[in-house]
Amino acid sequence: MKIKSVALKKAVLSDYDSILDFHKEYIQKVKNYISEQGQKYALVRTFGCQGNVADGEKIIGMLCEMGYTITEKPEQADVILYNTCAVRENAQSKLFSEVGKLKHLKQENPNIIIGVCGCMMQQEQIVSKIKQSFRHINLIFGTHAMHRFPQLMWETIQETENNQKKARIIDIDDEENIIVEGISIKRNKGVMASLQIMYGCDNFCSYCIVPYVRGREISRNPEDILREAREIVAQGYKEILLLGQNVNSYGKGIEPIKLEDGTLKQVDFAWLLEEINKIEGDFWIRFMTSHPKDCTKQLIDTISKCDKVCKGIHLPVQSGCNRVLKEMNRKYTREQYIELIEYAKKIIPEVSFTSDIIVGFPGEIYDEFKETLSLIEHVKYSCLYTFIYSPRPGTRAAKMDDPIKPEEKSKWMGELLELEHKISEQQNKMYEGSVQKVLAESVSQQDETYITGRNQQGILVKFKADKSCIGNFVNVKIIEGKRSVLLGEIL
Ligand code: 5AD
Ligand code: SF4
Repeated sequence: MKIKSVALKKAVLSDYDSILDFHKEYIQKVKNYISEQGQKYALVRTFGCQGNVADGEKIIGMLCEMGYTITEKPEQADVILYNTCAVRENAQSKLFSEVGKLKHLKQENPNIIIGVCGCMMQQEQIVSKIKQSFRHINLIFGTHAMHRFPQLMWETIQETENNQKKARIIDIDDEENIIVEGISIKRNKGVMASLQIMYGCDNFCSYCIVPYVRGREISRNPEDILREAREIVAQGYKEILLLGQNVNSYGKGIEPIKLEDGTLKQVDFAWLLEEINKIEGDFWIRFMTSHPKDCTKQLIDTISKCDKVCKGIHLPVQSGCNRVLKEMNRKYTREQYIELIEYAKKIIPEVSFTSDIIVGFPGEIYDEFKETLSLIEHVKYSCLYTFIYSPRPGTRAAKMDDPIKPEEKSKWMGELLELEHKISEQQNKMYEGSVQKVLAESVSQQDETYITGRNQQGILVKFKADKSCIGNFVNVKIIEGKRSVLLGEIL
């Protein structure tokens, strides 16, 4: 077994002018190997959040650059990679069950490379379990090793050829986040493109594993982001989704930039939104995730005045109870959150909100949970992403007493969902009779004569139309507002 050390990597890197040169050299090595071998296939499965999906697009981009053909069929693949999520425990069980099923593929084809990467690989106990119980996994790398993926692939190919079943390369060091620009991205064809503006998280909400597996927050340079945004628009995408764990703190650590009039400007998220909004073209801008503690009234003003910025804001509150928010280390109160929401509703009358909610945080009692319900009634979210608390080893909350039984938490969750459904239906009814600008996205899965898309608020709209409208903005008259969809007629 080969475990790479940071020292080795640093020594290797110092031989190159830039990390990108190092990265490209290994891409070329794998490419030469593949051109000698003939066609090779790779399959990448991604779990988890939009950030992971964006990482998956980079992994696929690198594999394509190396010469692999992307497949969805495991039995055809020469490389199978799982890009994992660590946010809740169920993602973990799902991964183990899926990779367990791949054992027979390794027996049938000892040269196949099976790899796991992403957030879960930054957790020691997971890597130990894989080392002990999943002998057929050949490559393990964490979130910080993304730019070394070509080197790791090259080494795994060689190890697999020499050692077959025993081959295993591991790269899971806990390093400072660095940004390597210029890595290929293979975006899904479609109408929306995601654009990562920052990496990592400094917030340490007490329940959350992300700061441990993704490292400290680091923002990309604005020129790189703006260049990528222009490319996305030129490629014909109609929506840009700006991504970061806490987009509202974008710009921390970036040197002030010199404006055309010679003055220095400390960039922030509001400025970035304005700059992207200035790019010519017919497209929408969305972003996630906003942390309420860093979401300012000034940012709401910017959202209001930028015509391309969508008026649906994801602003996760997690809980409506001040004691629980404090224990969660969220750094805002229920009152501050409501003030922000009310300001936004005043400045942007058509605004709508979505949120993440955690049910059954350690020590939460029913009366505290009811405060979350009352906050939801007050804000009237268009949609909620709801999670039963899942202890993550290593986080502060995982050490807290958690006396409420899972069955009780499930009951609370039932109550929450009932309320959410009632409110979404009420909210959606209000669109009846209105005309909505909708970005047509795809053919409806239930009925091929229908097209689905979203309005500016991010609400799903379904209407009868020809699929030639996909990728365009269309006007739809809303006939019926149902709980999770607006039914309408294209004008
Ligand atoms: N348990 C349950 N939900 C969690 N989330 C993050 N960590 C946990 C956890 N340990 C939820 C939060 C976050 C969303 C992405 O996942 O609501 O906003
Ligand atoms: Fe996790 Fe909080 Fe960071 Fe979001 S802001 S990723 S919930 S620590």
